[in-house]
Amino acid sequence: MNIGIIGSGGREHSICFKLKQSSLVNRIYCIPGNAGTSELSENLNIDINDFEKIYREIKNKDIKLLIVGPEVPLVNGIVDYFQKKNIKVFGPNKNASRLEGSKLFMKKICKDFNIPTAKYEEITSENQAKKIINNFNFPIVVKSDGLAAGKGVTICKNKKEAIKDILEILNGKFKSSKKVIIEEFLKGEEASYFIISDGKNYLPIGTAQDHKRIGENDTGLNTGGMGAYSPSKIISKDIEKKILKKIIAPTIKAMESIGSPYKGILYAGLMIDKSEPKLIEYNIRLGDPECQVLMMRLKNDLLDLILSTFNNSLRKKKISWIKKPGITIVAASKGYPGKFDTLKEIKNLKNIKVDKSQQLFHAGTIKSKGGKILSNGGRVLNSTVIDSDLLKARKKALKILDKIKWKNKYYRRDIGFRVIKK
Ligand code: AMP
Ligand code: GLY
Repeated sequence: MNIGIIGSGGREHSICFKLKQSSLVNRIYCIPGNAGTSELSENLNIDINDFEKIYREIKNKDIKLLIVGPEVPLVNGIVDYFQKKNIKVFGPNKNASRLEGSKLFMKKICKDFNIPTAKYEEITSENQAKKIINNFNFPIVVKSDGLAAGKGVTICKNKKEAIKDILEILNGKFKSSKKVIIEEFLKGEEASYFIISDGKNYLPIGTAQDHKRIGENDTGLNTGGMGAYSPSKIISKDIEKKILKKIIAPTIKAMESIGSPYKGILYAGLMIDKSEPKLIEYNIRLGDPECQVLMMRLKNDLLDLILSTFNNSLRKKKISWIKKPGITIVAASKGYPGKFDTLKEIKNLKNIKVDKSQQLFHAGTIKSKGGKILSNGGRVLNSTVIDSDLLKARKKALKILDKIKWKNKYYRRDIGFRVIKK
């Protein structure tokens, strides 16, 4: 079977790597992919939101299944578009994608179906904000309703800060939506929980914890994610039961009952405090960089698992894992998430040893005409290692990044610091 993967990050490179191991897979096409995916598959240089152009290539290349990595095309309705054309596409449709595409939608689902989450209010004007804020304790969380590439959330220490952020969103700071919500600040530790769903049945496909801040000790600006490890150490069996019972099961039921059954990967961003999980947000896709570790630890044939969501056999599947934990460390361009240079040569990648337990997944990389690998984005490489413990895995992952000759590289050396004991 020929497969198309939409996206160009470390997540998509790791999906490509995993699919390459499947005997069910014939050819893989990455749309648009990166320098790493070009080694395993054929890259097709198409805008991921140009569905017509993608459709033409799907026909040309006889692609039978499309796997969508990032959220934007999902929220824009890529699944609905290709379903109409009778092409199998793995991911939630436009309506179901509102779980990530609209925080107001997600909050309403939580309210209507009794799913634990932070208390919230929609804000519609400055005056109303000034009144409603008095019902919250500080800090409060101000959020844009729509997609904002990780920049739509601020934690505000006082009323002045909150009003400033609220006004910016009401005045159109984000193209996706002018709507804004404020939320109670949740204390605790964050963890990510992933399931695969066919709309009715679902299976957990792993846990992880990521580090979103640019600086060591989780300081500085928010990023797409600077590293992650799996499994999460705080999700005990007992907490997992609660996550499934109080959050996942009612969500799947809710989506079915409103006529938008949830198909695809659902990623719950959770806050866990005193062994009680609360939903911070839903993502409608695999996390990046969490996916990179999950793909290294998952034993199942990924294509078989995905196909089971189309032919009603998901409930018969069992997920199995390599027991060892895994870590991924992101190497970014110096300056990210602010300004950074691109098109800088990354040398000696060919000398890096990769195998089943260590991989170097590419994100923002491209190949020059002469075959050189150049940086082409904020997050550029992901050193992903599984080993008997996280300390060993981190040491190896760092060693790989240390070897790479790229003047602009920046990475954190402390990924997993909350759980790695030296
Ligand atoms: P989101 O885009 O909703 O995932 O928010 C990004 C990050 O902001 C989360 O990963 C949390 O670290 C933080 N955050 C969001 N909402 C809350 C909340 N209600 N309480 C505490 N932290 C939050
Ligand atoms: N690593 C966070 C995300 O993918 O949203």
